[in-house]
Amino acid sequence: KDDRISRITSAIRVIPDFPKPGILFQDITTLLLDPVAFKDTIDLFVERYKDKEISVVAGVEARGFIFGPPIALAIGAKFVPMRKPNKLPGAVISEEYSLEYGTDKMEMHVGAVQEGERALVIDDLIATGGTLRAAISLLERVKANVVECACVIELPELKGRERLGGKPLFVLVS
Ligand code: PRP
Ligand code: MG
Repeated sequence: KDDRISRITSAIRVIPDFPKPGILFQDITTLLLDPVAFKDTIDLFVERYKDKEISVVAGVEARGFIFGPPIALAIGAKFVPMRKPNKLPGAVISEEYSLEYGTDKMEMHVGAVQEGERALVIDDLIATGGTLRAAISLLERVKANVVECACVIELPELKGRERLGGKPLFVLVS
């Protein structure tokens, strides 16, 4: 298992000064270029969630759309996209959240998730936690039970985990 985490860690490329000076960008596209590391990533999540009676995997645009669907298929759950504003064609509920500069919105289709469903939220990375917090809020507004959030990477110095309203967070690389 440790071997798998080391391979995943090595497959993530760190790019300095992107998108701005001083930011060390964690690039998961190089993880996707290594089929063994990519499969290990999905397998580690599937091993954790396969027996947790999850019926919804909610993936956050954009990179939660890469990791969420293979997990959903493997555990027999539906996949629900949590999208940037004005992308979803049906009726939506939306949640505003703060970014480093300004705010953004996240949207989810009305009717995609039913009251009482057990949900897992997936994204590539947690920084300040604002993005995952918005996803949790949308799911809770339709009375879903958010069992856990899961990311490939955590930037622990930003303490995003503390913004999740007590919801557990599982990460592979910290
Ligand atoms: C990045 C990353 C997470 C989010 C984490 O996405 O993929 O979704 O930031 O930041 P937070 O914990 O401070 O909210 P970004 O908003 O850059 O958009 P993208 O995934 O569509 O590229
Ligand atoms: Mg993102």
